[in-house]
Amino acid sequence: MNADEIDALAAYDIAHIIHPQFHRADHEGAIIFERGEGAVLTDVQGRSYIDALSSLWNVAVGHGRRELAEAAAEQMAQLAFSNSYTGYANVPSIRLTGKLLSLAYPNMSGVFYANSGSEANEMAIKAARYFWYASGKPEKTRVIYRQEAYHGSTMATTAITGMAPFHTGFGPEPPDFIQVPTCYHYRCQWCADQPACTLACADTIEAVIEREGAGTVAAVIAEPVHGAGGVIPPHPGYWPRLREICDRNDVLLIADEVITGFGRTGRWFALERWGVQPDIMTIAKAVTSAYVPLSAFIVSGRVHEVILDAPADAKFMIGCTNAAHPTACAVALRNLRIFEDEGLVERAERLGQRLNDGLGRLREMPSVGEVRGLGLMAAVAVAADKQSRASLGAGVGAKLLSALRERGVITRVKGDSILFAPPLVTSEEQIDHIVNATGDAIDEVVAAVNWP
Ligand SMILES: Cc1ncc(COP(=O)(O)O)c(C=O)c1O
Repeated sequence: MNADEIDALAAYDIAHIIHPQFHRADHEGAIIFERGEGAVLTDVQGRSYIDALSSLWNVAVGHGRRELAEAAAEQMAQLAFSNSYTGYANVPSIRLTGKLLSLAYPNMSGVFYANSGSEANEMAIKAARYFWYASGKPEKTRVIYRQEAYHGSTMATTAITGMAPFHTGFGPEPPDFIQVPTCYHYRCQWCADQPACTLACADTIEAVIEREGAGTVAAVIAEPVHGAGGVIPPHPGYWPRLREICDRNDVLLIADEVITGFGRTGRWFALERWGVQPDIMTIAKAVTSAYVPLSAFIVSGRVHEVILDAPADAKFMIGCTNAAHPTACAVALRNLRIFEDEGLVERAERLGQRLNDGLGRLREMPSVGEVRGLGLMAAVAVAADKQSRASLGAGVGAKLLSALRERGVITRVKGDSILFAPPLVTSEEQIDHIVNATGDAIDEVVAAVNWP
């Protein structure tokens, strides 16, 4: 592609595509990708970058997998689509359901398929409310969510996203979604000055349930490890405590595993790390490694039974044209076979250790306030001063991203934190390059900020 063609594409893109989280100024100079192979993306100018966030935490098996293209082509040639509304089914979705239930928490029993993480969460909330409605407790409708949560961009999932910028301009929001503090020890209002989390953040959820009245609360929804909110792993006691609180108050626990599912934390699903089983879990992203869109919510036997036993005049009336899409399900099955053939869950644990150890060494830098992570997810928080944890100022995140990009690494930031979640097939050399590039990028940006 010559320079004129590239310029024309870039001009048309910014003029006519409304990108997610769009602001015209931010989109100037966007990279136009053309190819991908393993952990590397290449743009139309032939420049290559390590895709250090697996694109959007989703391309787990890496780019350029012919097996997945072939699985899609085979299924499309045989049966690209048939509908899965009541009375109809297809073979790949039945097989995929068996696979998912064999991998998910032992209490899981029923799967509803959709297209995106937002839809899966939106419908999981409906499933939670429906469960209580059909159980004779229709007043249990409130949903508790956490600060820094990201659960999606539909109306209800915006309402349960705990980051203010996602709400601007979209009100009024639906009622009955209640925000609580999260498990972010570094900035915790209760225990930031103590060596470890005291779980006051979990206990406050119980206080909120009591304040609202347990009889009005349907569910607590949370990501096992915050993703877009800044890669925030919880204290090991946090999820077991949440489970106890939900059980004690007869409230459903929804785990949003849209990012953490499928090996990201070094386990198939993250709550395995702490021996907890949710009532409902949501999945998307790595289920197909994003080769085609697919998501789902999966319910425990207890919730499933209520759906199975629903009276005819109060059916579980949710819909999704592409539910259980045969091509998406065939790709997911093939994708999960790659995980097993290549031992990618174990690999994520091993690579994650290397990534977190490497980034952990950056703690010695005066401008690194915190390094946190779990499995193959990590974040480095840059600060003007280690003690005060003060910010280096607005725009520092964009500068860090630009300095990383110069060094052949692309990823995203949340505030002053640089986030990492590379593909599960990333090589050790590429992990080391991410670590070294991060240290150098921080040095460069801090030196520029401190320049008189
Ligand atoms: C934890 C989590 N849940 C839900 C979503 C929404 O998924 P989607 O963008 O596919 O709607 C995301 C997206 O990044 C996510 O990170």
